[in-house]
This record gives sequence, C-alpha cells and structure tokens, in this order.
Amino acid sequence: MKNVAVLLSGRGSNFLALSDAVNAGKIPARIALVVSNRPEAPGLQHAVERGYKAICIPSRGIEREAYDRLVVKELQAENIDFICLAGFMRLLSGWFISQYPHRILNIHPALLPAFPGMHAQEQALEWGAKVTGCTVHFVDEQLDHGPIIVQYPVPVLDEDTEETLSARILVHEHEIYPEALRIVCEGRYTIEGRRLIVKPEPLPAELGLG
Ligand code: GAR
Repeated sequence: MKNVAVLLSGRGSNFLALSDAVNAGKIPARIALVVSNRPEAPGLQHAVERGYKAICIPSRGIEREAYDRLVVKELQAENIDFICLAGFMRLLSGWFISQYPHRILNIHPALLPAFPGMHAQEQALEWGAKVTGCTVHFVDEQLDHGPIIVQYPVPVLDEDTEETLSARILVHEHEIYPEALRIVCEGRYTIEGRRLIVKPEPLPAELGLG
C-alpha cells in the first residue's frame, strides 16, 4: 500500500477520479494528503468533504524553493511515496524534484512532447492538429518532459472549440491518471532512458496458468 499525495490548484476533477479509483480498490494506495496552493480551489473543498487530510499552503509572494520546502515538510510527515500533480499550476523547483526522483506524476492535456505548457488544448486547435490527447508522465527538471507512463489520443473535430475539445480530453484524463497511478503503485514498470516499459499484469490466480 503506497501513500499518495495530490497537489492541486483548481477544480480538482482529476483528484476526484483518483479518489474514486482508490476507493473502488483499483489502486493499492491511500491518498494520505491533499495540498492546494490556492485557498479558493474547489478541489480543496472536495477533499475536505471526502474526509481527506487537506491543507492549503498559499504560494503567493513566496520564493519558489522556500515554498517547496514547506510542501516537502508536509509530504515527509505523511511518508508520501508518490505525488500526483493534478492541475497544480506551479513549477516545482529542482530541489523538490530531486527529493522525489521518478516519484512525481503529472497529467497534461496533450500528447507530449506536443503542446507543453499552458493552454495545451488551445495550442492544439491553433496549430491545426488533427489529433491531440492526454499524457501522464513522471516529472523531471524540464517542463512537461519526463518519462511517459500512459497516453491517450483524442481526435480534433472541425467544429471543436477549446471548451468542447478540453471536455473530450478530460474524460480520458480521468481514465489514464488512475491507470498510471496503478502501474506505479504496483511497481509494474522499468525505466530505460526515457522509455518506461509497463510489465504485463499477472494472470489471475484462479486460471491456474501462473
Ligand atoms: C486538467 O485538464 C489538467 O490536464 C491540466 O489542468 C486541468 C486540471 O483540471 N493540467 C495542465 O494543463 C498542466 N500543464 P482538474 O483541476 O479538474 O483536475
């Protein structure tokens, strides 16, 4: 059983998808801590309503690494194994990332390395891409860059707006983030360079084939 922390800044729909999957017994983890950098984040309220330990550490006016040290102190106090960034709209310092190598996950609403950074769905529309999607990856020191755990493609329709495209991508974000967290919590992967190789799931014991 792994201890997971979720860091968020806003709506929190990916946090809710992770919470649902953990509650359904699909991931060998417990969400031990939810951290928001914004007091008004709806995701923080959802976490409180679901009974999680949920704290706000306001980031306004604090230097990046000083802020990260406050967050890491809370993560260490809960013995956190994996950190899920779920709409956490802050760059992590190199120091933070060095504390948790290959243990911080991020979800991004595009097929990386296409359209990193902010407004990925709008970037895909403006570029005229015919396909975009979503990516869950480990965080490294470069923005939206680390080894990819799971991706899912979503077609861009001629009539799409940023809102309709974002909504269709979001449905799949809510599927692949729990899937990726399950893979890492089960330890069912190896990393070779940039490539993350997912090992097959063990066959159910009752088949007698294992
Ligand atoms: C999600 O679409 C996530 O992919 C995106 O922010 C949204 C958060 O929604 N993240 C990024 O763009 C990171 N670069 P949520 O608060 O409902 O999970």
